[in-house]
Amino acid sequence: MLINLRFIFIWALAAGWLFWGSPVAEAQQPPMGAHTFAIGDKDFLLDGKPFQIRCGEIHYTRVPRAYWDQRLKMGKAMGLNAVCVYLFWNKLEWKQGQFDWSGENDAAEFCRLAQQNGLWVILRPGPYVCAEWDGGGLPWWLLKNPGIKMRTLDPAFIEPSKAYFKEVGRVLAPLQITRGGPILMAQVENEYGSYGKDAEYMGVLRQALIDASFDVPLFACNPKKDIKNGLRSDLFQAVNFGKDPKGSFDALRGFQPSGPLVNGEFYPGWFDSWGGTHRTGNMGQYLADLEYMLKNNMSFSIYMAHGGTTWGLWSGADQPFRPDTTSYDYDAPISEAGWVTDKFTKTRELISRYLMPGETLPAPPPPNPVIAIPRFALTEVAPIFKNLPAPIQEDQPRLMEQYDQGHGCILYRTTVPAGPATTLSVKEVHDFAWIFLDGKQVGVMDRRRHLYAVTLPARTSPAQLDILIEAIGRVNFGPGIHDRKGLYAPVRLEGLASPLAGWQVYSLPLDDAELGGLHYEPAPATGPAFWRGNFELAQTGDTFLDLRSWGKGVVWVNGHCLGRFWDIGPTQTMYTPGPWLKTGRNEIVVLDLVGPRDPEIAGLAEPILNESHPELDFTKKPRASGTFQVDQIKPAQEGSFSEGTEAKDIHFAVPVTGRYLCLQALSTLDGKPLVSVAEFEAIDANGQNLPRTNWKLLWVDSEQEGKEGENAIDGQSSSQWETSRSGGALPHEIVIDLGQSTTLGGVRYLPSSDGKNPGHVKDYRIFVSDTPFGLATEGVKKSNVSP
Ligand code: GLA
Repeated sequence: MLINLRFIFIWALAAGWLFWGSPVAEAQQPPMGAHTFAIGDKDFLLDGKPFQIRCGEIHYTRVPRAYWDQRLKMGKAMGLNAVCVYLFWNKLEWKQGQFDWSGENDAAEFCRLAQQNGLWVILRPGPYVCAEWDGGGLPWWLLKNPGIKMRTLDPAFIEPSKAYFKEVGRVLAPLQITRGGPILMAQVENEYGSYGKDAEYMGVLRQALIDASFDVPLFACNPKKDIKNGLRSDLFQAVNFGKDPKGSFDALRGFQPSGPLVNGEFYPGWFDSWGGTHRTGNMGQYLADLEYMLKNNMSFSIYMAHGGTTWGLWSGADQPFRPDTTSYDYDAPISEAGWVTDKFTKTRELISRYLMPGETLPAPPPPNPVIAIPRFALTEVAPIFKNLPAPIQEDQPRLMEQYDQGHGCILYRTTVPAGPATTLSVKEVHDFAWIFLDGKQVGVMDRRRHLYAVTLPARTSPAQLDILIEAIGRVNFGPGIHDRKGLYAPVRLEGLASPLAGWQVYSLPLDDAELGGLHYEPAPATGPAFWRGNFELAQTGDTFLDLRSWGKGVVWVNGHCLGRFWDIGPTQTMYTPGPWLKTGRNEIVVLDLVGPRDPEIAGLAEPILNESHPELDFTKKPRASGTFQVDQIKPAQEGSFSEGTEAKDIHFAVPVTGRYLCLQALSTLDGKPLVSVAEFEAIDANGQNLPRTNWKLLWVDSEQEGKEGENAIDGQSSSQWETSRSGGALPHEIVIDLGQSTTLGGVRYLPSSDGKNPGHVKDYRIFVSDTPFGLATEGVKKSNVSP
């Protein structure tokens, strides 16, 4: 094996080895029991020999600690030789300067267990990680600063990031391969090129990891379209994709002419969002792409090998606002409860044909016991309105973070004067608000629908107005990560000149202190309440709590927060690990903000991950009605897209202004009627992307389950909008509400990343208008929920 010494030297520099001890010296005289790892001209070099990394992502925090060893053994049995691990900064540094590495946060112990199981570790400490995790892992307390610019060189962001890296180094740097541990490499940031272009920012974070004693090779990862952004020659590059390894690695080669080819994330499935359908991967394509990488000596990381569960209140949300489910099963080869799946068996069988000489795969570990729990009733209630803490008095309401609260619910109360029925409106709520007048529910506000107004009934005397807000997960992708929760003032009553004033604000963080202070009374209750019950077990085991007769809220079992539930699905059960149950009496608490239809629960032996109930949603999906018409409107541009999977920019001859933007696909490159769009963006006259934070999908003429129109504007090139397979002739249209009248210099179309994939648009027309093309948007502005 010829090694390009110049390349190694560059990577030695990149990894900071020249400051932290020469790797060459270590390679010559490794400490007892230590190995060496380097990036060669074609291969990763482990102890000087070519090494193909067969990695899979597992988030220790998403797995009960008692099961870490079993999940790692599953990964090993599936054929992995490494695990990829994100650190979630906001869970570790839960309060600025206060770190918690205990219990499910003990990353060092997880790394040690990986090593004991013969698995290397690739560490991805962030600071931003995405991962369908609250705010992409960024601490909520950063948002107390109203002007902070996350993921930039803003000192308000970068200084806490450096302090966090320092703490990560204190705990995990001793576990690097250079010191006898399992950590082979560490990632700087996460898909930064999909967010910004500042290579200096990446450099500062890279240096911060080096300063935190990281001396293994450092790398960055991006989907192929974004590798160019923030690119640095002193950071090794990996490429992320769900399909088309060849196209993605070809693109990577354009930026990194030598060195091993490595994938940072390879998606076997995808995550679920509330109100969507359960998403699964395409097995045939997954196996073919995996085999392509195995055969061609490409390193990879299956994201997720085992997804697990987003316990607590930590699951994130997608953009446009779609909160993610608690289950992070991901259709991964190792199921949420750690089971062998068909995908696991096929992955193991495939990898077993590409092992290193002398390597064998161990058998999977025995499955964990599973139990069913007979149906039982929750017989005590603690209504929220009877369990309020002391309020804070305010003239004008402020956001949740300003009350030093990160998660949970928050109640804003004031008095409204007597008067006729009128409209109550707020600037925004993050994320759901139930509106009560003198204790009676009169409407709902819903960020998913941009629904920020309700009708208040007539009042004969002044009445108490309560706005109870639930903060669900923070947006974890794109500029929306600046996701502050609570009530965005002003609050206005139509007919009154000034905003409503004189507020009492009640923080309901749903933490242990709040739960411990609740006063229960015999059931039933109407309205938002905590429900408590007990069940007896003769023996423990994993179970899936059936929440199908409950509304929307949060569940705790024996003090462990299992996360959020919502009857609209697609997840209907909550994975409850056996180690968190006890023989004898167990306690369950359910906060239901909507109220159960039947306050009973059972433990099932199987999960229900794919039962959607859109009819139970408390606000309607805002697909506009009416007839799409553009006959009288002149297209802003028409033309034909070229072949190829790269992003295609259209520059308008003159900038065009309007609130509604339509892409009309008149024909496709393969001549078939199906159209797919991975991303659709607007650009200004200089070709810069315009923010999509306030965008809303208004209408598509057709869509497939799991490939809805929203996927075209979610910023994720791996998910796409696809028109129905069963029919629907061309043309096909997607109409976006930009939130306000906007001047556009052009648009950008990203086709799906697989060149062979059908659906690439050929002839197109783009329309921009201040009227919504004949589509009626009435009925989606005001809550139509009956009291
Ligand atoms: C991106 C991110 C991951 C994850 C996936 C989707 O690729 O890097 O953290 O969010 O998307 O699951």
